[in-house]
Amino acid sequence: MIADHSQVSANQAPIGVFDSGAGGLSVLRQIHALLPQESLLYAADTAHIPYGDKTSTFVRERVNVVAQSLVGLGAKALVVACNTATAAAVESLRQRFVMPVIGMEPGVKPAMECSGSGIVGILATEGMVRSNRMAELVERFAHGRKVIIQPCPGLVEQVERHALRSPETVRLLKNFLAPILDSGADTLVLGCTHYPFLLPAITQLVGPDVRVVDTAPAIARQLQAQLRQHGLLNDAGSGGDVRFFSTRVMPEQAELFSRLWGEPVKVEALGELD
Ligand code: DGL
Repeated sequence: MIADHSQVSANQAPIGVFDSGAGGLSVLRQIHALLPQESLLYAADTAHIPYGDKTSTFVRERVNVVAQSLVGLGAKALVVACNTATAAAVESLRQRFVMPVIGMEPGVKPAMECSGSGIVGILATEGMVRSNRMAELVERFAHGRKVIIQPCPGLVEQVERHALRSPETVRLLKNFLAPILDSGADTLVLGCTHYPFLLPAITQLVGPDVRVVDTAPAIARQLQAQLRQHGLLNDAGSGGDVRFFSTRVMPEQAELFSRLWGEPVKVEALGELD
């Protein structure tokens, strides 16, 4: 029997995961937990963070540049670990690359399914709030029930400073959550991949009766299913490497990534290939 070496190396190639900054690490940790044998390349477009206040055209251009760099590093699949970037660019990536491309979206569907009051709040970036994708999600899944969509300028920056429970972060969260809690919402959707890092502060403010929805675990399962379907799962059995890249490497970044990832990591410069 002739061994199919091309298939072996395709399966063992890494998965490219990216965001504007450190937020996508909340998705990366779910992928790593579910698929520990896979090698992962994480890229942060720190030179252009935040994406939330940029135009969709700008975000689409950046996403294509970062994705191309990850493909240049050998990625066999791409995960857009950013709701804002997915809304702006996932379709253009799917047209450009033949590999599996997984995008993120706020969990409006699961939130509607588990809400008893039928009132759901969504925290998201300004770019995500004004995107067509957000309007489509609400149109498709809310069915006339009440959805309070709250833009949260400044929250991403607080996570990037690792100010996860600082007085300023708590003040911003209180303001953003007030209209949602006042409306009687019993379910809160985290519509930005930075926000799961604020979960302890959010839970303390919303209390135990409000369910918080993060789609990162579902994205990891979707990635697994797509890799399986394309014959790309790495079943070699050994632990995969995780490498971290940034479009602007700064000493503070390795420290931030290490704290959020839970162990010391090195951040390498991402070469742009576009
Ligand atoms: N983490 C990104 C998201 O999920 C947004 C961050 C940003 O605004 O740059 O939407």
